[in-house]
Amino acid sequence: MFHGSDPLDAIGTVQAPGRDSYRRNSIGGRPDVADRRMSSTNGRFLKRSTAQGALQVRGGIGKSPFSGESEMLTGSSVKLRIGGVCGIYNQSVSVAGERDRLREAFGPNNERKHPDRQAAIRGRRIMDMLSSTQQASPPEEHTIEPRPIRFNITDASPRYWFANDPFRTQFFNALFTTFPPGENFFVRSVVHYRDRIRDPLLLKQINAFAGQEGTHANAHQDHLDILSRQGYTSLERENRYIIDPFLKLANRIAPRFALALTVALEHFTAMLAHQSIARSDLFRDLAHEDFKPLMEWHAAEEIEHKAVAFDVYQQVDGSYRRRIGAMIGATFFMVVLLVPMRMTPLLYRDGVLFNWRTWRDGLSFLYGRQGIFRMPWNHYKQFYRRDFHPWDVQDFDLIRPFRDEYQSGLWLEASRLKRTG
Ligand SMILES: [Fe+2]
Ligand SMILES: [Fe+2]
Repeated sequence: MFHGSDPLDAIGTVQAPGRDSYRRNSIGGRPDVADRRMSSTNGRFLKRSTAQGALQVRGGIGKSPFSGESEMLTGSSVKLRIGGVCGIYNQSVSVAGERDRLREAFGPNNERKHPDRQAAIRGRRIMDMLSSTQQASPPEEHTIEPRPIRFNITDASPRYWFANDPFRTQFFNALFTTFPPGENFFVRSVVHYRDRIRDPLLLKQINAFAGQEGTHANAHQDHLDILSRQGYTSLERENRYIIDPFLKLANRIAPRFALALTVALEHFTAMLAHQSIARSDLFRDLAHEDFKPLMEWHAAEEIEHKAVAFDVYQQVDGSYRRRIGAMIGATFFMVVLLVPMRMTPLLYRDGVLFNWRTWRDGLSFLYGRQGIFRMPWNHYKQFYRRDFHPWDVQDFDLIRPFRDEYQSGLWLEASRLKRTG
């Protein structure tokens, strides 16, 4: 069952791909050029090494066999010292073969059974590292592009803009108006670690991610201002006095957790975005014309950038436990708190809070067979896999029509909208 007392014995071959292989291929078959990176990082990380105990490692880089030492720095990075050369490998370390054997030996359910506890803990950390390798990637044409737009949502837009129904409209109002503080939080959490990222493609994606989330926050703030003028003042108050200060505090005192929480919430937004496009008959099509473009635009961009926070997290931390802890917190907020905390004052103002029909239909909309929180169950639970990557869900095809139409100018024309930048 267990292959040697040292987890790295089981790995066999360690290959480090070239710089341009950040866009991973789910099928595998990546280049195995290591020497350039080995020498480019030579010595740079010697001072940063933490004494977590070196492990003997045997294998091959490129076509050359080696034996040397490896040292885990974080859950997702490993330092290799081979001969006189030292290199650090983050997400781009690729471990060829033996992954299943490692999983069998050190997978989540087997860790406790291992006779050597320390080796098992090291094994788990290596599993976390492996989780960030050999992952899926979007198709070649995938790019992330901010598209600043001013929407046609005004004070004259209908109050019950979703299916002409108070409960469902207020659900989306409650959710959408968390985006201004929420998406600014995402940007702060990711940008906080920008200096630690050396991958040029990921750095470019961080900037585009910040641009997209910034424009989303602004668009939803405009909608929130309208709701405040309509008398739904609790939303702005909750943002200002509860949500925003809490998220800013998380950024200040627990930046790693803030990033993990961002990763978890981005999984939620990607999941809801996927849902809203894949089942547009249940979502986008039921929205009033003024709101349809906003939903479509936001959903497409959420799918486009769904892996950015995750990739940053894997490079700077990568802890599986923190990611899962954050997801449990995010789920509690989304599924449990959002409705009672944010929707109750809105429904009270509409005079339907104590109407049993409202709740019967509303709860079935949320948790029923085709409920917004129930339909994406399979998508949601993927996040709990150790080797999860957002692009394991290959949904780029869902946003291709939007991207093409936007590119050609057709989408803006058909929606009667203009870019603001
Ligand atoms: Fe967003
Ligand atoms: Fe996002």
